[in-house]
Amino acid sequence: MPKLPAPPVPAALKAPPPRPGDGNGKATPLDHAAEAGISVVDWVDERTSLSGAARWMMFRKVPKGTNWFYTLGSATMFAFLSQAVTGVFLAMFYKPDPSGGAYESIRHVTNEVFLGQFVRGMHKWGSSVMVILVFLHMGRTFFFGAYKYPRELNWLIGVVLLILTMVMSFTGYLLPFDQRAYWATIVGVNINGTGPLLGPYLSDFLRGGPEFGAVTLSRFYAIHMMLVPGLIAALIGAHLYLVAKLGTTAPPWLKAEKNPELRKAKA
Ligand code: HEM
Repeated sequence: MPKLPAPPVPAALKAPPPRPGDGNGKATPLDHAAEAGISVVDWVDERTSLSGAARWMMFRKVPKGTNWFYTLGSATMFAFLSQAVTGVFLAMFYKPDPSGGAYESIRHVTNEVFLGQFVRGMHKWGSSVMVILVFLHMGRTFFFGAYKYPRELNWLIGVVLLILTMVMSFTGYLLPFDQRAYWATIVGVNINGTGPLLGPYLSDFLRGGPEFGAVTLSRFYAIHMMLVPGLIAALIGAHLYLVAKLGTTAPPWLKAEKNPELRKAKA
């Protein structure tokens, strides 16, 4: 009797084709795209050796007990970056003109520019967010004793960052040049003037002379959008370098190592 041929196997039951990269030589466009990304990184790394620095910065040991309070520094940095990005867009429209142009340019951004009110709102509210975060971060490092040896220098850099953050708020407040901004800044500059020894020089520098005038607004704008952001960016770099070099402090409630073997080795 002739043998009947086996019935065809339904497609769903057939063995799946080998995965790309498993030797069949048929990579998908997606595989090529992933390869291209890796090649670009390799290309740059071969010429700069930057991957070592990136690894040093990112792959670090963190102490036991590290918790959410340790994210406050990065949160402050994110707030700063958000201020930098939104600030660039605001600067595209802002005119530091004391005879009505400044106020008008901000009115224009708020009422007429596409997403202008949103970006201005982000910058305005973001400034308060950054100030709150920087204080919370300082509180964290203080209460965890992170200012002690060997991190004193990082604390000092932090103090300068705190002052610069305050300078950003103070100089930014004048820029809308409405009544509130004008009079609040007069009060602020006068308070600076009451400081011992340097006070009068400081208030003269801020005003750009003995009188609050046209120069004051451009001076505040230059300090707000160039001088201080540059300093903050450089100091954040130094701050993070020290964090990566020294590591972070363990929470104070963690007890010292009780292992008698380790104690013996130390003695
Ligand atoms: C623009 C402002 C600041 C930024 C962006 C910033 C950023 C950071 C980041 C990302 C860290 C590592 C993670 C962490 O512990 O949160 C850190 C650590 C630290 N920061 Fe700041 N910081 C700022 C201001 C300050 C201020 C005002 C102080 C104190 C006066 C300060 C003192 C410290 C200290 C001592 C450490 C080491 C913490 C440890 O070893 O556990 N920082 N900072």
